[in-house]
Amino acid sequence: MTRVAIVEGDGIGHEVIPVARNALELLHPEYEYFPVDVGYGRWEVTGCPCADNDILELKTADVVLFGAVTTPPMKDYQSVVLRLRKALDLYANLRPVKGNGFDIMIVRENTEGLYSGIEEFTPDRATTLRVVTREGAERIVRKAIQLAKERKGHLTVGHKANVLKSDVLFRDICLAEAKAAGLPCSEKFIDALSLDVLQHPKAYDVVVTTNIFGDILSDVASYLVGGLGLVPSANIGDRYALFEPVHGSAPDIAGKNIANPIAALRSAAMLINYLGDAHGGEQIESAIQQVLVHGIRTRDLGGSTGTKEFGEAVIQALDRVKDIR
Ligand code: NAD
Ligand code: IPM
Ligand code: MN
Repeated sequence: MTRVAIVEGDGIGHEVIPVARNALELLHPEYEYFPVDVGYGRWEVTGCPCADNDILELKTADVVLFGAVTTPPMKDYQSVVLRLRKALDLYANLRPVKGNGFDIMIVRENTEGLYSGIEEFTPDRATTLRVVTREGAERIVRKAIQLAKERKGHLTVGHKANVLKSDVLFRDICLAEAKAAGLPCSEKFIDALSLDVLQHPKAYDVVVTTNIFGDILSDVASYLVGGLGLVPSANIGDRYALFEPVHGSAPDIAGKNIANPIAALRSAAMLINYLGDAHGGEQIESAIQQVLVHGIRTRDLGGSTGTKEFGEAVIQALDRVKDIR
């Protein structure tokens, strides 16, 4: 039996994840779905945002559908999502940005870089160690190469090797692996790349980069498709996989029924695709398109339809297409 852990998390996670869960349950009623409560809300009540037991429970699932968690900028608070990515060794963060005539896959290294967690904090000086290992760089670029081969067959490496020695290693490993695989590969400094992706999105296929650069680049690139409400992600390791929108808990709009659930729905589509049902993933996307075509939109896209109502429209559309296999 396929087991799906559902983590709503915080903020708009409570609004967008139920919509995505409905889509999954409609297509796959045979899966077992079980909730796991982690995040800032849980910390406020119990003083613990995520216990070791929660991680063990998540490890019993075949896949995790994750909303978003609030990570307050407090020195002693450890981000739950970062902890999970490390605990489940979800080293590849895949963030597809797909629009009219372009299809970019951002492949973000997800376990090291500036997110190494190796930090020192004194009242007068704080340092964070940026770590690039051969093993970490090799496994992420191999994943990126594999994806590029299944797609348009081009790789771009985003880095800052002009300044950072850690990125000299990252870039050199990426270029060497691409060459060995016979894959056309370009490189660009991450700052210039961030602008060029916006100006010439059609020039890109797979972009591989280090942890924080991928974090920033994916929010930037979401501009191409209408913002953060639309971009999903997959966090993949060799044993576990977790699917979540690129956006966060959006406290500014939480509880108002105005969040766009498309990123969460697309994350659910990536989840069932990963489980082997690529057709179901396409059906979710087609249901989203059918609703958008009728001008039904949430506020971020210029409409006035609520999260719940938009979700219901997608579920109705999905119900119409689901038996066409
Ligand atoms: P955010 O992504 O939550 O929000 C940025 C902006 O985008 C906000 O104006 C928000 O209203 C808007 N937005 C985001 N998702 C939207 C949606 N589905 N529909 C419509 N508008 C949407 O980023 P932030 O405000 O910088 O961070 C808020 C909190 O979320 C922080 O605590 C941060 O640490 C956390 N966060 C968590 C994750 C995660 O769990 N994976 C990811 C990013 C941020
Ligand atoms: C993301 C988020 C997280 C990150 C934060 C909340 C730790 O911004 O998933 O993009 O930096 O990876
Ligand atoms: Mn981010």
